[in-house]
Amino acid sequence: MYDLHCHILPNIDDGADDLSVALKMAQIALGDGITHLACTPHIYPGLFDNTPEDIAAALQSFRKELDAQGIDLELAYGADIQVVPELVENLRCGAFPTLNQSRYFLFEPPHHVPLVNFDRFVSDALSAGFVPVITHPERLNWIRGHYREFVSAVQAGAWIQLTAGSLSGRFGRAARYWSEKMMGDGIVHLLATDGHNCNSRPPLLAEGELMAQKYVGKEEAARLVLDRPRSAWENADPESIPPPPGCSQRGKIDSGKKQGFLRRWLS
Ligand SMILES: [Fe+2]
Repeated sequence: MYDLHCHILPNIDDGADDLSVALKMAQIALGDGITHLACTPHIYPGLFDNTPEDIAAALQSFRKELDAQGIDLELAYGADIQVVPELVENLRCGAFPTLNQSRYFLFEPPHHVPLVNFDRFVSDALSAGFVPVITHPERLNWIRGHYREFVSAVQAGAWIQLTAGSLSGRFGRAARYWSEKMMGDGIVHLLATDGHNCNSRPPLLAEGELMAQKYVGKEEAARLVLDRPRSAWENADPESIPPPPGCSQRGKIDSGKKQGFLRRWLS
């Protein structure tokens, strides 16, 4: 499996506290069946001012430690990028890193207040040739009353990433409810761990895939943790990638596949 969102690099944000925790996280990920992992520390101006150079250097040093320990985990880097006004400009000039230097990047909306001009951020990024991967919308405090904005973002071409642990109940009832709703509506592109440590936020993906099977079946559940994240890792054209079951090829919601809750929004 491919995990495109993990705070495993030590001492760079609120993820792994030190190298020993990071190494244990790598072993947990590997034991769970993760073979490829994107190290994605926060970029949050004023709080975590990480640059691509800082992250690349931390990755290089961590890779050496994994090699020394014989831990066979393929690494790449990106960042969990908090949405700021200069988002697209910073992606363009390389001040914000994309996932494995692809066109895909982690787009983190604020947790506690609705994102103003959400649609404009998404369309500007898409117009500039990037694919925003919206991180864990199911865990945002403001999703209630704003669900339609996420549907619109998917219609425009953004991807949705749920946290695997939300489906298995690690983040409480609300996160589980919204993640189940998005799965049921067929608008989820991938699952990721968003791992931060070994205990409360471990890098586990398989339990999410298992839960996803209930909503989208085995084949699509495998796409959530393998095919689609691998395609993003390899910078594949999004139009060449099979869309989630509620969407047509270009990210538009497919009227022939409207499901459950979504039908009410779109009909
Ligand atoms: Fe994160």
